[in-house]
Amino acid sequence: MEKITQEIYNKIDNDLYNAKTDIWWKPDTVLHILKTSVNPWRVGFAMNVLKKLDIDPTGKTALEVGCGGGILTEEICKMGFTTTGIDPSDESLHTAANHAKEGGLAITYQKGTGEQLPYQDHSFDFVFCCDVLEHVSDLPKVIFEISRVLKPGGIFIYDTLNRTFISKLVAIKIWQEWKRWAFMPPNLHVWKMFIKPEEIKHLLSKNGFDWKEHHGSEPNVSIPTMLRYLRKRTKGEWTYADLGKNFVLVGSKDMNILYAGYAIKK
Ligand SMILES: C[S@@+](CC[C@H](N)C(=O)[O-])C[C@H]1O[C@@H](n2cnc3c(N)ncnc32)[C@H](O)[C@@H]1O
Repeated sequence: MEKITQEIYNKIDNDLYNAKTDIWWKPDTVLHILKTSVNPWRVGFAMNVLKKLDIDPTGKTALEVGCGGGILTEEICKMGFTTTGIDPSDESLHTAANHAKEGGLAITYQKGTGEQLPYQDHSFDFVFCCDVLEHVSDLPKVIFEISRVLKPGGIFIYDTLNRTFISKLVAIKIWQEWKRWAFMPPNLHVWKMFIKPEEIKHLLSKNGFDWKEHHGSEPNVSIPTMLRYLRKRTKGEWTYADLGKNFVLVGSKDMNILYAGYAIKK
């Protein structure tokens, strides 16, 4: 597995999440795409896991590691979990807490990193970590910590980006670098920090998990249509909100870019 050296980690822009304004919930912002275009797929995956395992989340405890502005945390809370979100960014946590309060959702938000979770062993029934594992400096430590805070029999649900030629072309070149189409800020992601499915499986088994499943994703439109939509946004004909309405991820066998998975703590 790729070792995340300081030199590689220095390239990722995790400072972006410390913006002073709400960068999560305003419809015309890049991170709101997590709600419009990614949530349907990843929340659908989580609901399927619950159904498959015949688990009623009511009253069960869930932690979201790297919760950002609460876009996924609120969905976890709405499923019925007693929900906690943790993130290193004060500004994102402030946005998350305000938004939950406005919506009348009882979510506990706390500051911290996945590498050092401030919870006792065996604290949670579920841990979610979505679109975060490819942002952390010490992935083995984060997986160790997630395993530690999960109760035996607890469930870990995650999604992350695969390190393939296709993910370099699509997620880095088209989505971030090539000005004709790019809709993400440069250095939002660093390709060398992407994680191959077999790497995460290996880490999970080393940390007391019984790995269960991976599930891929693909855009709801063809690649030429995706490029046309992205071009409309860079030309100013479409906002991020327009993009989010038309371009969403759907479940697929294709694991080349973003994939989700789950594992059970032994
Ligand atoms: C792409 S956002 C995902 C936010 C949220 N999980 C979602 O999908 O809506 C990545 C988040 O990871 C957080 N993050 C970065 N490094 C982290 C770390 N070491 N431990 C936990 N969270 C981290 C960032 O502050 C940011 O909120």
